[in-house]
Amino acid sequence: MRNYKIGIIKGDGIGPEIVEEAIKVLDAVASKEGFNLEYNEYLLGGAAVDVFDNPCPDETIKGSLNSDAVLFGAIGGPKWESLPKEKRPESGLLKLRKSLGLFANIRPAIIFDELVNASSLKPEVIKGVDLTVVRELTGGIYFGEPRYKDDNKAYNTMIYTRDEIARIAKIAFEEAMKRKKKVTSVDKANVLEVSELWREVVEEVAKNYPEVELEHMYVDNAAMQLVRDPKQFDVILTGNIFGDILSDEASMIVGSIGLLPSASIGGKVGLFEPIHGSAPDIAGQGIANPIATILSAAMMLDFLNETSAAERIRNAIKEVLKEGYRTKDIAAFDAKEVVTTSEMGSLIADHAAN
Ligand code: NAD
Ligand code: IPM
Ligand code: MN
Repeated sequence: MRNYKIGIIKGDGIGPEIVEEAIKVLDAVASKEGFNLEYNEYLLGGAAVDVFDNPCPDETIKGSLNSDAVLFGAIGGPKWESLPKEKRPESGLLKLRKSLGLFANIRPAIIFDELVNASSLKPEVIKGVDLTVVRELTGGIYFGEPRYKDDNKAYNTMIYTRDEIARIAKIAFEEAMKRKKKVTSVDKANVLEVSELWREVVEEVAKNYPEVELEHMYVDNAAMQLVRDPKQFDVILTGNIFGDILSDEASMIVGSIGLLPSASIGGKVGLFEPIHGSAPDIAGQGIANPIATILSAAMMLDFLNETSAAERIRNAIKEVLKEGYRTKDIAAFDAKEVVTTSEMGSLIADHAAN
């Protein structure tokens, strides 16, 4: 039997609630498709600080590297906010991504026809949207040195090297080749030197993909165009901080941030993570939407070449939504029944097993 070692990182806040549901669904498809998943749990973020006084223990990095893939929930919360920077949950996540070499973060905005009324945008604007954000994940202003803060002055540095830009651009063009063959590279080249180089290198990489249409867009315009006419986009290629912001914005096209999955890749092992955070405002209430994490688990199965199981999960989600079940965040007027996090997970798992 095919066997996969899956690292599980639940994290903080709603992290444990949503990852539990994704595991339910993974178990359902594994037995149906005839493969075995062996789970090993690791700590990250606040949960790791509480036990090891370290938001990214070595054991988590080693365990992840020893896995075939890692499924991750979310980290962070008020409890750890005032710790020194290196102890904060967010530093732990950044260290894990960097240590695993995960320079590319793919964030598809998958629209479900059943949810067109859940979005804050008009149905005619969003129906048929199919875009994906390719975000650079281990460089840019998040990691640039020097960085500094005292009481009167603080700064960060946005750095990209030619190689860093070329490798993420390549991922975006490869993605576009599998899709509608259009790349929109988003930058701030009218102000920033780092964006000037970004543009030049993206142009060079584009020469290897003559079939792909390339356009450049300033990030302020891109933020506006995303809500004006999201259907114009196919692949959005951008740096670390712009990608972080634009993908949260893109989630509202789909209806909720609780729906957007992601794959962080580029190293030996992929990390599959919803784009949202630990949602401390709703943690422990059983109302978080587990679909972003379940879709991240489907991306993980694609990565493991278990594409039929991945498709089974996506179809199960569609069926459950078609039947009218909604978590609170997507419960528009057409919801048949508002369900809890755990009920949503069970409904999807049941459909996936049939
Ligand atoms: P957030 O994404 O956690 O929450 C923003 C809003 O969206 C909240 O109102 C929340 O209730 C809602 N929301 C998020 N996920 C949801 C879901 N699955 N279902 C229903 N509603 C959902 O962002 P924030 O409030 O800015 O940050 C909270 C904490 O999470 C912070 O500590 C932040 O650093 C951290 N964070 C972690 C990650 C990550 O682990 N990848 C990502 C973003 C933020
Ligand atoms: C995300 C988060 C993280 C990021 C934070 C928590 C470090 O916002 O995964 O989108 O900015 O990458
Ligand atoms: Mn984010």
